[in-house]
Amino acid sequence: MGTAQVEFTEDELLSDLVVSEPLVAGGVRCHGGFDADGTYVSPRTRFRGPAIAAWGEQNCARFGTELIDVPLERWERSYPNVEQARFLIRAGVPEPLMATLTRIGTVEGYGANIRLLKPKDLQRHFVEDVRGTAIDHLGGGLFEAHGRDEAGWEQEAGHRDMWFAARDLAFERPAGELDIEAMLARMGFGVNRPGAGGPRLLPDDISPDLEMMVSLMVRVLFIEISAFHTFAWAEAWMSDTELVAGDGAAAQLVSYIRADETPHVGYLRTALSEMRDRTWIGETGRQHAGTDMIGRIWGPLLAQSLGPAREEGRRATRGEVEHWCATRTGGADILAEFNALGDA
Ligand SMILES: [Fe+2]
Ligand SMILES: [Fe+2]
Repeated sequence: MGTAQVEFTEDELLSDLVVSEPLVAGGVRCHGGFDADGTYVSPRTRFRGPAIAAWGEQNCARFGTELIDVPLERWERSYPNVEQARFLIRAGVPEPLMATLTRIGTVEGYGANIRLLKPKDLQRHFVEDVRGTAIDHLGGGLFEAHGRDEAGWEQEAGHRDMWFAARDLAFERPAGELDIEAMLARMGFGVNRPGAGGPRLLPDDISPDLEMMVSLMVRVLFIEISAFHTFAWAEAWMSDTELVAGDGAAAQLVSYIRADETPHVGYLRTALSEMRDRTWIGETGRQHAGTDMIGRIWGPLLAQSLGPAREEGRRATRGEVEHWCATRTGGADILAEFNALGDA
């Protein structure tokens, strides 16, 4: 076992590295900043970064296992694809892309809800010691740091507003021109989102609060991993200075958001691996293998993420493309050309 630090206070997990220059994008003061060499530094990573690495190594050494993972390639690439995105801009129909960026920012903002969990004394659910693990720090800084990264904190904008800033930089028009509320309503926000409030997946004697927390962590982990397709997609067309405004600033901003997501994927997969490798205790005192508990949640939620959730997002975006093409002269031709550029 290593000698790395594995116990951290909440203040430590929320503390920033020193930056030489703050990140300001499109007039918006964002979290994070730049070190003396001009390299982007993610917020709240002074202790959180090394902590996640130490917990992961410790768990692998203690249980002789690998950290749980899903390859990005399991998810399909973004819709519309990069060529279709470029085509929409050239055809003068950028609104579906603005809608997609708005949707991504809104989803990022919802991700902050994870901080509402505030779990205490998770030890009672596990046979093996959880001191000095990610599990033991979920309610002591990890969920809070995640929430602040997504929704912003005090004066500093988080990912929600950073996506909105990237959109406004790229399209050089105030989003107020678009009816954002109507757009989000068309895209299915406000109706029940998949995977939430479904039937129980774990045995009756497992605390419902614990199941709810683990299910949320798994759902968020899948969103975080699959988002790397979205980053690659957005950076590909946003970095084209002939196509969008802002001299590449929008794509840069997206690359900073991408960097900030690494600790999210990191702590979630570490804590879920720690739970998988431990024995769970039900409220009746019965014991359950962690591999079985995590497996029962992991399988159905992965299927949901790869299938229906993905299809729902695709349908919402397709609706926006059809909606906006219909407002243009020759919209049917634009839509046909758009469809022709789609992946087989
Ligand atoms: Fe995010
Ligand atoms: Fe995230």
